[in-house]
Amino acid sequence: MFNALVVNKDDEGKTSAAVAQLSLDDLPAGEVTVAVEYSTVNYKDGLCIGPGGGLVRNYPHVPGIDFAGTVEASDDARYKKGDKVVLTGWRVGEAYWGGYSQKARVKADFLVPLPKGLTTQQAMAVGTAGFTSMLAVMALEDHGLKPADGPVLVTGASGGVGSVATAILANLGYEVAAVTGRPDSADYLKSLGATQIVAREDINETVKRPLEAEAWAGCIDAVGGPMLARLLGQMKYGASVSAVGLAGGAGLPATVIPFLLRGVNLLGIDSVMQPYDNRLRAWERIASDLPMDKLEAMVQPATLSDLPKLGADILKGQVKGRVLVDVNA
Ligand SMILES: NC(=O)c1ccc[n+]([C@@H]2O[C@H](COP(=O)([O-])OP(=O)(O)OC[C@H]3O[C@@H](n4cnc5c(N)ncnc54)[C@H](OP(=O)(O)O)[C@@H]3O)[C@@H](O)[C@H]2O)c1
Repeated sequence: MFNALVVNKDDEGKTSAAVAQLSLDDLPAGEVTVAVEYSTVNYKDGLCIGPGGGLVRNYPHVPGIDFAGTVEASDDARYKKGDKVVLTGWRVGEAYWGGYSQKARVKADFLVPLPKGLTTQQAMAVGTAGFTSMLAVMALEDHGLKPADGPVLVTGASGGVGSVATAILANLGYEVAAVTGRPDSADYLKSLGATQIVAREDINETVKRPLEAEAWAGCIDAVGGPMLARLLGQMKYGASVSAVGLAGGAGLPATVIPFLLRGVNLLGIDSVMQPYDNRLRAWERIASDLPMDKLEAMVQPATLSDLPKLGADILKGQVKGRVLVDVNA
């Protein structure tokens, strides 16, 4: 028997989450059984611990969109007992049972080997949010961004994606301007390497003019909505924006003028179906380019029983940095 966070749905459609005991026979079919060590809390986890947001297919459900641990049994030649592995994406924790459990069983294709230089604990301190931040940095670099080009804007900066993006960019030598709605996050963001703090209210509303002064050489945007629409008009000529999230809304009340007159690029970032080779590349870059002392500074520890509250908090935008869930604590 082992512990897992199980979400049930009652006859009235109301969900409730609690730690319960399961057996290996309860796990879904899959090629690799993993003894999970750590998981994390992402925005999607907040949805799946709570009302589901249309992501969860069946109940009872075990959420947790990412995990790291040790292979316990494998029917796939790529993995053997004792191997350390990481999982993000592939709709695990949504359509499939996830990592808020001491054991998980998944398809071998969903896993990547734990990158050299990272522990399972560090991999989940990074988690899906940090992995996505690295994909976003790589996309900007692939479109030509260099530190000498000027400041890079990071929106939703105190959140998981924003915190890791800030630390990676600063470590790579970029000047980072961090957008936050929490003035008390300024010292935290500066400790991660931000040199400029932009108040959320200064950039959260669309303006009539489609183009403003050229301010940013690149942007990692976790917010979407009116903020993304506004900052498109503030990008330098030829600059790129990695669109990662929708913490501020899924709409995009923008004009095409920044694309047509300034050659601005809007790059979509998806971590869920990311091809294997690019996953490996991103994890290797995380191991080499994310300073581990900065990562430690953004992590708060949690256990399975803390998750119902943390899930609600992240939906309200009240989680700072990254949450590291020790499923065996
Ligand atoms: N594309 C992908 O594959 C992928 C992967 C992971 C995450 N995501 C998405 O990326 C976004 C961020 O994820 P996360 O894990 O970093 O979540 P998070 O920890 O909750 O961070 C989101 C941050 O956005 C800011 N924010 C919240 N509500 C806002 C609002 N109404 N207007 C403006 N800013 C607001 C807050 O930062 P401040 O307090 O500093 O303002 C908050 O900390 C989510 O939408 C998530 O679904 C996408």
